[in-house]
Amino acid sequence: MIKGVILAGGKGTRLWPVTKVVGKHFLPVGNKTIIHYPILTLKNAGIKDILIVCGQEHTDQYVKLLGSGSELGVNLYYTIQVDPLGIAHGLGLARSFAENNSVALVLGDNIFGDNLSVAVKKFSKKERGGLIVLKKVSDPQRFGVASFRKDGTIKNIVEKPKKPATNWAVTGFYLYDNRVFDVIKNLKLSNRGEYEITDVNNFYIREGAMDYVKAKKYWVDAGTFDSLHLANILVRKQK
Ligand code: DAU
Repeated sequence: MIKGVILAGGKGTRLWPVTKVVGKHFLPVGNKTIIHYPILTLKNAGIKDILIVCGQEHTDQYVKLLGSGSELGVNLYYTIQVDPLGIAHGLGLARSFAENNSVALVLGDNIFGDNLSVAVKKFSKKERGGLIVLKKVSDPQRFGVASFRKDGTIKNIVEKPKKPATNWAVTGFYLYDNRVFDVIKNLKLSNRGEYEITDVNNFYIREGAMDYVKAKKYWVDAGTFDSLHLANILVRKQK
């Protein structure tokens, strides 16, 4: 079984002053809020038990907006990340929720055009190691960037490189076996003061246990004004 985790904490400083008052994940995209999209991404991939990791300021608003999840056809649970110490730190808070299961992590501001059941099916065949979703982009400096060996396997991932080795960005949809919680426990803080999901991914890559699929449709990380605008255009076009 795979349990879902959505990271919806963080400060959203790239959207200030708007996000000084309104949490980033409550901003509108199409006829929904940003947070609806990762929930539907998990649901469409067949994952219905979902933990939302919220920042402390907005917890009551998540519950008010989404409740038990029954309106969306999922089971929602909530926890609080008091300080935004990084994506890997947020995922670490899901340990008891995950029990002994694998986890699918989605970043709360990521909007996918693809149905990611393809990724879940590929991961479920092995249910060991990890799997990430890659997308070719024109602005790789904003993301984790993958480089490849000659046989097509991933060689490593660099977080927000100044000189990216490729145009293949690591999107915010990740599948891990239950060992991920031990990997997170052993992480060190990065230069930007966060526990990095890229360090988790590089651990699985070094083990030779990281697979990937390529997103075919659009993918937007709606964390800046430009990408939020783009998300609205793409989501509307799809209808
Ligand atoms: O969007 C994909 C990118 O997401 C990846 O390519 C990068 O490798 C990965 O590090 C991440 O980069 P960002 O710097 O853009 O992540 P950001 O800080 O915007 O956080 C992404 C989401 O996770 C956002 O919805 C807020 C949430 N978050 C973030 C942090 C740092 C938390 O819930 N807790 C946190 O501590």
